[in-house]
Amino acid sequence: MTHIQITPSILNADFARLGEEVARIGSADWVHVDVMDNHFVPNLTFGPTMVEALARSTDLPLDAHLMIEDADREALAYVDAGCGSVTFHVEAAKAPVRLAREIRAAGARASMALKPATPVDPYEDLLPELDMLLIMTVEPGFGGQKFLDLCLPKIRRARELMAKHGVETWLQVDGGVSLETIERCAEAGADVFVAGSAVYSSDDPDRMIGELRAKAAS
Ligand code: DX5
Ligand code: ZN
Repeated sequence: MTHIQITPSILNADFARLGEEVARIGSADWVHVDVMDNHFVPNLTFGPTMVEALARSTDLPLDAHLMIEDADREALAYVDAGCGSVTFHVEAAKAPVRLAREIRAAGARASMALKPATPVDPYEDLLPELDMLLIMTVEPGFGGQKFLDLCLPKIRRARELMAKHGVETWLQVDGGVSLETIERCAEAGADVFVAGSAVYSSDDPDRMIGELRAKAAS
């Protein structure tokens, strides 16, 4: 039985009041923290010091999404900062197997992300090394982009490969997830849903989390 999880992204929250912004999403399963270095993606957010402060301000677990070039060297800093899950991009990692093992050994869930044009099949043998696979449904870099339907077959394929390998890997989607698109993702096999603008553009982010959860489960 699939366990639906909603992980709001704080990318579109008010960065000057992050503690209060996170307090508005108390019913979330995780807080999705987008780390961008202005090299892997053309946008810049924050680093481990800020993430550590955020971890101290909430009881919710943090799900770090590293959109950075030097993931091999920097990922463990986010485990140290208090993140319970750390996602690196396979397009950036030089040694993804070693990196996944290091993240697990440090005590966090290891997760790997694929950009929209990156296929999943070449990585099927890595699935047992991963606690979660993130399939991007927009090009990473910015919140508020339109969901890319062309990613749906890859979600379906990833779910098939997980069944083939008999692994319990979570399957996360990120980008353009809203009340309009979440059912398509769930139907394709996703079980962990990042939602940024859908949650933070709502007057009541917690209510929106409930609505997204209900749609995904329907
Ligand atoms: C985009 C980020 C996402 C972003 C999602 O590169 O990885 O987590 O915040 O925002 P929405 O849900 O607005 O597409
Ligand atoms: Zn993200």
